[in-house]
Amino acid sequence: MKIWAHRGCSLMYPENTLLAFEKAAELKGLTGIELDIQLTKDGYLAVCHDEKVDRTTDGRGMLRDFTLAELKELKIDAGEGRVERIPTMEEVLDLLEPRLREGLQINIELKNSMLPYEGMEEKIIGLIRERGLQEHIVYSSFSALSLEKVRRLEPGARIGMLDGKISDCLYKLKGGCGADDLHPSMYGIDLPPEKFAGFRVRAWGGGRLYPEKPTGNRLDLAALERKGITDVFLNEPEAYCVGE
Ligand code: G3P
Ligand code: MG
Repeated sequence: MKIWAHRGCSLMYPENTLLAFEKAAELKGLTGIELDIQLTKDGYLAVCHDEKVDRTTDGRGMLRDFTLAELKELKIDAGEGRVERIPTMEEVLDLLEPRLREGLQINIELKNSMLPYEGMEEKIIGLIRERGLQEHIVYSSFSALSLEKVRRLEPGARIGMLDGKISDCLYKLKGGCGADDLHPSMYGIDLPPEKFAGFRVRAWGGGRLYPEKPTGNRLDLAALERKGITDVFLNEPEAYCVGE
């Protein structure tokens, strides 16, 4: 089973922050880091899960209504007096590029199923290309239209189709978005493995943060593997990366 850090090491550190990514990058045996991107009012790629900044920062309102400078004013309490800020995608790449060159991957989830974020595909693909990091990136989205655009702009991109159920991921593929991999919830494996043989199946926590509290490495990864899951996005990857 391949282990990914979901929004970084997001159980112990604030999700989608440089701190959470730095902790994930230190893990031996980690396959990759998942993160979520959106666009600021002035068109910068910001790494944040919710469309609103309310849950994760001391601010209020929609992320798209903030300029980057305004967004950078918002504070994320990281405990022990440490304050984090919503990072830009450039800042994340500055931090992780050396680890990417060593084989770590990033799954960039385009957060555009609620708000379309016109031009986000062009921006992220341009940035990744500029840095020559194409082979280290997996793109994903709940929007098949967005993934179709990613495929058009970057024919060689690795692309994962997100949805709750694996049957719905497969259904969306029929529209021709050209995704390579399936990204269902780990509770949404509603087909036997032979129905999706040959796909990588990277599974996430089903609408909950997963795990929600420290498990001390007690998730039954072998059982998930028997269902056909090849990779899992975990908030507590540090409990499952035994190192290599
Ligand atoms: O990409 C896997 C997972 O992150 C999808 O759901 O809501 O956590 O972004 P969400
Ligand atoms: Mg995500």
